[in-house]
Amino acid sequence: MAKKDYESCLLQPEIVNIGSYQTFTIKNKDRRGYDYVVRLLPVSKETVPGDIPETADSDRLELFVGGSPDDIEKVSGEIEVSLGKENETYSINEAALVYIPKGLPVRHRIIREPEKTAFLLSFNLTPRWEGFPEEKVERAVSGKKYEHLILRNPVTPPFAEINSSFMSPKDDFFKHISGATANFALYYVKRGGMFPEPPHWHRTEEILMFMSSDPHDMENLGATVEVGFGPEWEKISFSNSCFVRFPAELEHGPFNIHIGKFKRPFLFGHYWPTGEPAHIILSGETEELDIVNPGEA
Ligand SMILES: [Fe+2]
Repeated sequence: MAKKDYESCLLQPEIVNIGSYQTFTIKNKDRRGYDYVVRLLPVSKETVPGDIPETADSDRLELFVGGSPDDIEKVSGEIEVSLGKENETYSINEAALVYIPKGLPVRHRIIREPEKTAFLLSFNLTPRWEGFPEEKVERAVSGKKYEHLILRNPVTPPFAEINSSFMSPKDDFFKHISGATANFALYYVKRGGMFPEPPHWHRTEEILMFMSSDPHDMENLGATVEVGFGPEWEKISFSNSCFVRFPAELEHGPFNIHIGKFKRPFLFGHYWPTGEPAHIILSGETEELDIVNPGEA
């Protein structure tokens, strides 16, 4: 791919004003042609739909994350999520994942506005990867029917100085949910410098998410990022919130966050829209590395 083609790998968001807040939305198709949507909302009564039940038309994954890079567990408010026709209610007051299978009624209510910024990142997922065998495991639950759809401790300590703690599925979360999978991680980039990942590639497409942490200004990332594309490391830099799409087998890296232009932490993560299993292959190699940190894939 030539440099002008690499420019098309930057996916630009729709940014919408709601009251004093802004929301960020990316709509695209995975490499099989299935639609997906990723949306970042500041948690507030203005932005999160009120007491209106809805039914997702695809499986959806919701991440509730605190607005402080040093305390991503802290949501500092209370969101009530109701699931099913039974209206089973679950209180979210710290970082959590909620999986909403297609067709399940869901409703959100802000019981208490967060005192500090908190975000809801939602993924409307594409169908499960056909080649990914399902392993169903029953999970002990508290007596509520949908308890297995909520993961209350999704935070793992940082694996590099540049990053905050990160959110990802763990404890076999998806194995308890029929048909579910997703490959993602979410964290903050806290300072300028080079990402720890060496140049590498994957057998499937990968999305890197670069999102402002300012709920009133979703457009400006607050840093300048430089990404290398292809074996020649063609550099493309940007300072606005966007997603970067690496098509399957395209080498990518190094990733540089310019120190001089770093103004504030931003939300970052990877997302593999097909949900295929994580793997990483170093530049110039053909064999997968043995160990993959879920935050590095
Ligand atoms: Fe990658």
